[in-house]
Amino acid sequence: MSMIVDAVLHPADLPFLAQRGLAEAVCVVFDVLRATSSMVTALEYGVAEIIPAASIEEAFVLRTQYPHALLGGERHGDKIGGFDLGNSPMEYRNHVGATVIATTTNGTIALKACEGAATVLVGAVVNISALVRAIETLHPKRLLAICSGTGAGIALEDAWAAGALVEHFQEHSLSDEARMALALRKAYAEPSQALRSSKNGTALLKKNRGADIDWCEVPDRLQTVGILSQGSVGKWEKPQLT
Ligand code: MLT
Repeated sequence: MSMIVDAVLHPADLPFLAQRGLAEAVCVVFDVLRATSSMVTALEYGVAEIIPAASIEEAFVLRTQYPHALLGGERHGDKIGGFDLGNSPMEYRNHVGATVIATTTNGTIALKACEGAATVLVGAVVNISALVRAIETLHPKRLLAICSGTGAGIALEDAWAAGALVEHFQEHSLSDEARMALALRKAYAEPSQALRSSKNGTALLKKNRGADIDWCEVPDRLQTVGILSQGSVGKWEKPQLT
């Protein structure tokens, strides 16, 4: 069955997601540097769930409901005052069984914007093949790659990752945005070319966070896909045939 493959490239389009056929869509949210890469890392290394919060205030309120949860995230790339963790994937490899309440500038906002979709998956370069396998299993009518962006603007690394996903489904029916993402993927053969030259990549390098980019730019480092369900991100499990 042919699938409609679409992409949201700019965060300014997030408030209008309801017009993109969400009810029959699998959305894949990308915030490659670094929110979704960190989430997927956290889940693969044993974090039980991640609760996205739209603001710092909301994160603190949520912690009153989940007193044992860790608070994680960033503003301007830095750890938030009073939080336990920042937004480096390296910080999420040693918290087996934890609940994390996360708020980031773009990634958690994009995740929450997808809440009306049939399925919301958490994507990155580090889990791209696992994402493809999940989508093949789910075989939706519509695939929507969501690029979280950097601040109010487009993020080259997110559009590149969206293109890497589209590449696997290019025999389907591609929207203009999906074709643009695919063209970008073809323009930069290696993920590091997109990640390191992007606005966010350059800012992270200036902050001596090159090790985060080293982690985020390796395809298929991880086998975990996150899924947003009832306000919380957990591990997507392939349905078992009975
Ligand atoms: C975001 O959500 O905007 C980010 O992932 C930013 C970052 O980690 O620096």
